[in-house]
Amino acid sequence: MITRRTFLSAASSAAAALSIVPLPQRASAATTNVTLTPAPASWPVLPDRPETKVWAYNNSLPGPVLRLKQNDRLRAVLKNNLQQDTTIHWHGIRLPHAMDGVPGLTQTPVKPGESFTYDFVCQDAGTFWYHPHAGNPEQVGRGLYGLLIVDEPVPPPVDRDVAWVLSDLRLDREAQITPDFSSFFDLTHAGRLGNVALNNGKLVQPFPVNAGERIRLRLVNTANARIFDLRFSDHAPWIVALDGHPLDTPLQLGPQDRVTLGPGMRADLIVDLTGTPGTRAPVFDRDFQGREHRLTDFAYSDTPAMSANPRPAPGLAANPVGRFDAANAERLPLVLGGGMGVPYALKVDGGPVLDMRQAWDRHRMAWSLNGAAMSEHTGAGHAGHHGHAPLFSLKRGGSYLIEASNETSWPHPVHLHGHVFRVLTQPGRPWRDTVLLQPGEKAQLALVADNPGQWMLHCHILEHQAAGMMATVSVE
Ligand code: C2O
Ligand code: CU
Repeated sequence: MITRRTFLSAASSAAAALSIVPLPQRASAATTNVTLTPAPASWPVLPDRPETKVWAYNNSLPGPVLRLKQNDRLRAVLKNNLQQDTTIHWHGIRLPHAMDGVPGLTQTPVKPGESFTYDFVCQDAGTFWYHPHAGNPEQVGRGLYGLLIVDEPVPPPVDRDVAWVLSDLRLDREAQITPDFSSFFDLTHAGRLGNVALNNGKLVQPFPVNAGERIRLRLVNTANARIFDLRFSDHAPWIVALDGHPLDTPLQLGPQDRVTLGPGMRADLIVDLTGTPGTRAPVFDRDFQGREHRLTDFAYSDTPAMSANPRPAPGLAANPVGRFDAANAERLPLVLGGGMGVPYALKVDGGPVLDMRQAWDRHRMAWSLNGAAMSEHTGAGHAGHHGHAPLFSLKRGGSYLIEASNETSWPHPVHLHGHVFRVLTQPGRPWRDTVLLQPGEKAQLALVADNPGQWMLHCHILEHQAAGMMATVSVE
């Protein structure tokens, strides 16, 4: 079995084999060049069944691991070998607007057979990912996603640096992806939940470890809709970063604590493998009805412990986040509305107020931000976001306190592009690009609007996004 470590180091040496050109202005900066080709592919998922027809970057699920150092430049050529328009969005990377990959908003969609070059510097170290931002439910749901790791100048010392890219697929008996994307039920309830969970593009397997080692475990949730809610029971991992951004102080998890990852969200853990050689230790997940199941195991090799020395995890150096000016911050209410369970009304793309029935019948819209639903405008093969009035118009450099309130019966991971915000109402007051709001939950998000442009703000349950829970935020 190929471990993630082999995979990661193979990927980084592949990247190293490509031309790494020092930039004149910064002696240490390098460029990583990569070509990403989304195309139909076959991928083994279920044993003893036909291979699954997926859409994948470079014939690999997940796509290639992109890895570079903080402040290095990524130059990625997207070559569209799909039958439909696509783009690539670099989830969590604070980059110039023109590189953000939102069709109709930051670029024209990339048509079948065409190419587009993304070129930007990664100013933040951490765990990020990439995915299309056109026809999201189907393109991501068929397998288009990949990991983007930006290394700290001095990474924390660990024995191995590994990733679990967690996702799921909805497969039929022949192991094929069911074509029921954007059904009424998925769009108006919890989104498209798969029936097969994947880790690094494979059916979840026990994860091989050695007693006594310390690993950095990068968790990424790339599923359309599934929330992973992990509990490490026999281990006491430290959360060192969320959505790529270090916590002020690493937070140690107790046996009952959970790492909750909505779609789009990441966590970096440092785990001391304190178990006994030859044993297995469970990692549990919990479904949205609260039922716990064993997702995977740490499977200990028979090798005697390398050392048995659990110790506090080192904190990571902060990324260059803006300074929030609490005294002068303007308050912005953000109300999440819609979905099954509560009656609602909303406007679609700036039109008249509609009741839930009309919104569905006329526009297939079911969710809103501040009473407004935004559609993706998919007509004639085009995806785009032209011509929407921004939900918020922010001044460049200004501080804003977003007071988010989930008035629906469903959880929503709300993602803002181009920025990072601080969640003041959650433990550790983490900096995040995606915040999960449970039904009825309120959160205060401290934002410094320091990146000019028009940015997407949307639920990362891709069916909720497609059915209206999406808006733009302008920073000028
Ligand atoms: Cu990860 Cu707008 O997306
Ligand atoms: Cu949602």
